[in-house]
Amino acid sequence: MDDIIVLDKINKSYGDEVVVQVLFDIDLSIKSGQFTAFIGPSGSGKSTLLNIIGLLEAPTSGNVIMEGQDISGLDKNELASYRNEKIGFIFQFHYLLPEFTALENILIPYWIGKGKPPKEVVGRAMYLMERIGIEQSGGKYPNQLSGGQQQRVAIARSLINRPKIIFADEPTGNLDSKTSDIVMELLKEIVREDKTNLVMVTHDRDIAAGADRVIEIVDGRINCDFTVDRMGREEVRRELEHLACTFSGAAGES
Ligand SMILES: Nc1ncnc2c1ncn2[C@@H]1O[C@H](COP(=O)(O)OP(=O)(O)O)[C@@H](O)[C@H]1O
Ligand SMILES: [Mg+2]
Repeated sequence: MDDIIVLDKINKSYGDEVVVQVLFDIDLSIKSGQFTAFIGPSGSGKSTLLNIIGLLEAPTSGNVIMEGQDISGLDKNELASYRNEKIGFIFQFHYLLPEFTALENILIPYWIGKGKPPKEVVGRAMYLMERIGIEQSGGKYPNQLSGGQQQRVAIARSLINRPKIIFADEPTGNLDSKTSDIVMELLKEIVREDKTNLVMVTHDRDIAAGADRVIEIVDGRINCDFTVDRMGREEVRRELEHLACTFSGAAGES
């Protein structure tokens, strides 16, 4: 399997006068075609790491290499178009734009990159809505949709440009467990169909157990990293419980 992303000695600090280091010398390669889950306690640096891998934030030092290309060589505009074309994001809070309908929200990443969407792109948006069960909601505004429906719109939006990779930060963290299961299954199915890579931060043990690889971050470092390859779900779950990981699936994770 090819590496889609390689992180080379990533460090991240915040602050000028008081400097707080959040990530320490992270080396990591993410394989193409795998669902990778990051777990770990609140405040351990998962979101920061995801934002750096997703090219939303720059590391303080170290390199991000995506599909063999060192991203630090790109200027701001190149970075923005690279991100828009290759990467889809799903956050815990969907960040839909309230003044646009569900369908328009789904089309926004296309609009930003290429302007008015042609018929086939609108068709893809309709297909995605149908695929995830919100085909009735295209004309509705976000405040007319339930939390689960809004998150499904956000998922369709992340997929509209057929990204190479989807970054999801606690995408079901705001949903009840039944809706969360449905949304996760749909996301995994579509990602498989589209041959998109999925990299997700989650505090949900069951979701982590369904990933191909689980990486635990503690205090800004990789604490454990295992590939689930060919293990059954139950075995993985036991593994997650018995590993030296401090992960506890605690509620209130951010
Ligand atoms: N923009 C920022 N400025 C200052 N500190 C930050 C910023 N973003 C995150 N942090 C700090 O970095 C640490 C890791 O945060 P985060 O990556 O959000 O952790 P997690 O997602 O694992 O809960 C926390 O201590 C947080 O307060
Ligand atoms: Mg977080």
